[in-house]
Amino acid sequence: MRTAAEKCIKVGDSFAFDYGTMFGKGRLTEDEVEALAPKAEAAAAAVAALRATGRAKAHKSKDGTDEPVLFTRLPYICEAGPNTPASIAALCDLGAHCLRSVDGVVFLGVGGSYLGNKVLFNLFCGEGWNSLSLKERGGRPYIFFGGNNLGALPNELLLREIKALAKRTVGAELKGERFRLLLVPISKSGGTLETLTAFSYLFEKLSAEPQIDAEVTAVTDLREEAASPLARLAALKGWRTFDIKEGVGGRFSVFHAPGLVTAAVIGCDIEALLRGARDMDAACKTKDWRRNPALLNACLKYAAGCAHGCDIEVFMGYGQCLKAVGEWYVQLLAESLGKRCDREGRQVFYGRTPIAAVGSTDMHAQTQQHQDGRRNKVIQFLQIKDSLAEAVLGAPFPELPDIAKYAGLNLNEALEAALFANREALDNDGRFSAVYTLARRDEYCLGLLLCFLMLSIAYEGELADVDAYDQPGVEAYKKIIKRELGR
Ligand code: PA5
Repeated sequence: MRTAAEKCIKVGDSFAFDYGTMFGKGRLTEDEVEALAPKAEAAAAAVAALRATGRAKAHKSKDGTDEPVLFTRLPYICEAGPNTPASIAALCDLGAHCLRSVDGVVFLGVGGSYLGNKVLFNLFCGEGWNSLSLKERGGRPYIFFGGNNLGALPNELLLREIKALAKRTVGAELKGERFRLLLVPISKSGGTLETLTAFSYLFEKLSAEPQIDAEVTAVTDLREEAASPLARLAALKGWRTFDIKEGVGGRFSVFHAPGLVTAAVIGCDIEALLRGARDMDAACKTKDWRRNPALLNACLKYAAGCAHGCDIEVFMGYGQCLKAVGEWYVQLLAESLGKRCDREGRQVFYGRTPIAAVGSTDMHAQTQQHQDGRRNKVIQFLQIKDSLAEAVLGAPFPELPDIAKYAGLNLNEALEAALFANREALDNDGRFSAVYTLARRDEYCLGLLLCFLMLSIAYEGELADVDAYDQPGVEAYKKIIKRELGR
């Protein structure tokens, strides 16, 4: 199966969006998409106005006051922006401090204060990071994530793991006499239950450990009127802080302090990450919506929903390291577009249910449903061309032809073949899919991808006329949980 070259849109040689299999038998027609032209042009104008004014139609904070929307400014470091030269320099200082004198870092946050950080960690460190030696980690600290679920067990397990690590490494490969631990609670509101309870628990227990020196850097909204309990605590204790600016919502904050704090600690090239985002932003500014990758993506998904009932989007990255990208996108899509009412107050119940999947793993779990279940899904594939690792099979079992036939097989080619096969099988049955391809696993390409996805959602919010920047639906359970806890 090959798709027509004109149904692939590229940004340089680093990013491609191949959408040929959104069209064809049982799927979109040229006429359906062309009919969206007036809406697409209006969406382009609305996002251009958002870039210029920092305001989105009818958007209010959860307290009902006017609130700016500034995520489009994050790639541009400037005095007036949410990311200033000073804020980026302070993040780099933190990275240098960790390299010099911190043995372990625990990031504590949930939702938008966690998922982007996990994307960066999974892509550039990998799940096996904490089993590497100090030298193999390039002098960077051990990394842990916590505060992303309630319950005793995750906190207890994390505590146990850190204590065991401190015990094991004291006298071995530490940067000082004792295990120097940095706790980084990340919470824009500063009052999120998961984050605050995990932070309080770990701070109390770990500060009492004789082998551990604990310090804290808090990432939160520092404005007095934001009334972040975390900000007040940090001021009281004199901890280092990073500000989350008004107008930068959690799920749009990976290019701001919540995400960049992880980028700095693990030694990512922040400039390359933001440069990727800037290049994608530039490519997604054109009013010519068929040449604007994010606007076109939004139009295709919107049309698949309106004209073909696609109310599920499966985000399927090929390679385990892309699982976190899928989980980050789940929040971005669900919270941004899952809306009861449009911006005129009419009930629309808009949105697609997002599902994160990993290829090839979930071909053995979910693909049966994608291939034969209800025709209500878009399968969105993601692949990285250059995986940075090579493994080629030898011939350890020449006596068994069923195994010996794989001699010489490059395992990256096997992964690519799996994606190709999945897509072709879906195509043969008239099922919707598309592929995002990154040329390399590096900061620049990740910047391109994440910016593309955020802009796609922003454009689709305009097409559907829903506020992509609020999340009123989460207030319902928050009230009940407060009542249940009696606090
Ligand atoms: O996108 C959002 O705004 C939310 O999902 C938040 O990121 C999440 O609830 C965590 O909030 P906070 O950063 O205030 O702790």
